[in-house]
Amino acid sequence: MKFLVTGGAGFIGSHVCEYLLEHQHTVFALDDLSTGSAQNIQDLKKSNQFHFFYDSILNESILSNLIDQCDIILHLAAVVGVQKVISSPVETIERNVKGTEFVLKYANIKKKKVLITSTSEVYGKGNHDRFSETDDLTIGPTFIGRWGYACSKAIDEFLGFAYYKEYKLPVIIVRFFNVIGPRQVGHYGMVVPRFIDQALVDQPLTVFGNGLQTRCFLYVKDAVEAVYKLALSEASVGNVFNLGNPHAISISDLAKKIISLTNSKSDIRFIPYHQCYGSDFEDMMKRVPNIEKINHHIGFLPKTNLEDMLKEMIRFKTSARESSKITPPHFQIQSL
Ligand SMILES: NC(=O)c1ccc[n+]([C@@H]2O[C@H](COP(=O)([O-])OP(=O)(O)OC[C@H]3O[C@@H](n4cnc5c(N)ncnc54)[C@H](O)[C@@H]3O)[C@@H](O)[C@H]2O)c1
Repeated sequence: MKFLVTGGAGFIGSHVCEYLLEHQHTVFALDDLSTGSAQNIQDLKKSNQFHFFYDSILNESILSNLIDQCDIILHLAAVVGVQKVISSPVETIERNVKGTEFVLKYANIKKKKVLITSTSEVYGKGNHDRFSETDDLTIGPTFIGRWGYACSKAIDEFLGFAYYKEYKLPVIIVRFFNVIGPRQVGHYGMVVPRFIDQALVDQPLTVFGNGLQTRCFLYVKDAVEAVYKLALSEASVGNVFNLGNPHAISISDLAKKIISLTNSKSDIRFIPYHQCYGSDFEDMMKRVPNIEKINHHIGFLPKTNLEDMLKEMIRFKTSARESSKITPPHFQIQSL
């Protein structure tokens, strides 16, 4: 089959492309490299089944052309990461909403199946023990920047369902809960790669807030396999799915684990939220996915435990550092 992967040079997108090529598919990847990188797809370019287009999903003529050529669209291109979302709120909302609008518009002309990647951020600051797809979304006030990202993704979901209901376009929506793995970078706000970078150079691991907030981390290869199965399943059409690992860890414990696994001399430094994100930042204490629905549809269960994910990321970053001999910058940002 022929897949169009928007955001194909990004962290998750590059793993999606790799998986599709391993399964003998043809891949068109469209990416403007705003947060992705050419390095992420360097090895994929060796395959003659892989076709990379350095352009934006907002370029309607290239987008419609690629949609014409493919069988299925996996839509991952978006502005991502709390640091980027807070520093570029207009770009975040416009690009996430308009990009998805264009993808759906041209998919509908050719009636191509679309899988839209969304986020656990849409649950907002709800305080459930586990979030289910049928739960209400509890978004904070509109003057608080981080909710602009959540709302832009929620609008993407509404629009996806609107096309499904009004035009019978086959649409599937997937809400990722903190996906991690090799090639993820820390400078847009992702906590695990940032902690590993800090630990590898014995800098303090900077925990924002009191560190008692918990998060659940899913390994990227587990996520990609699930995305592939959902995309090929007819029963998934017209549905939204949580995709995450229900095992939670506090950010403090995460920092301690990374220090131990890297044999680092780093200590942990707590920084109040207002010092990194301004006075109007809001965070949530926990965000655990209920994965019964996706388990029922495609038999999804996370395979990789946190320690193995971290070891793999540490190995990847250590070898990248050794080959480039570049010291990472001193990061100041925290995960969504
Ligand atoms: N990583 C996570 O834990 C996580 C959690 C929730 C949701 N998501 C969603 O998963 C998707 C992929 O995220 P990621 O973590 O791989 O981040 P990423 O930043 O690595 O990937 C996004 C990619 O989209 C590209 N892009 C952005 N705007 C574009 C445009 N206008 N045209 C073409 N390409 C564009 C970027 O260059 C980048 O390669 C996003 O939709 C994100 O919202 C990720």
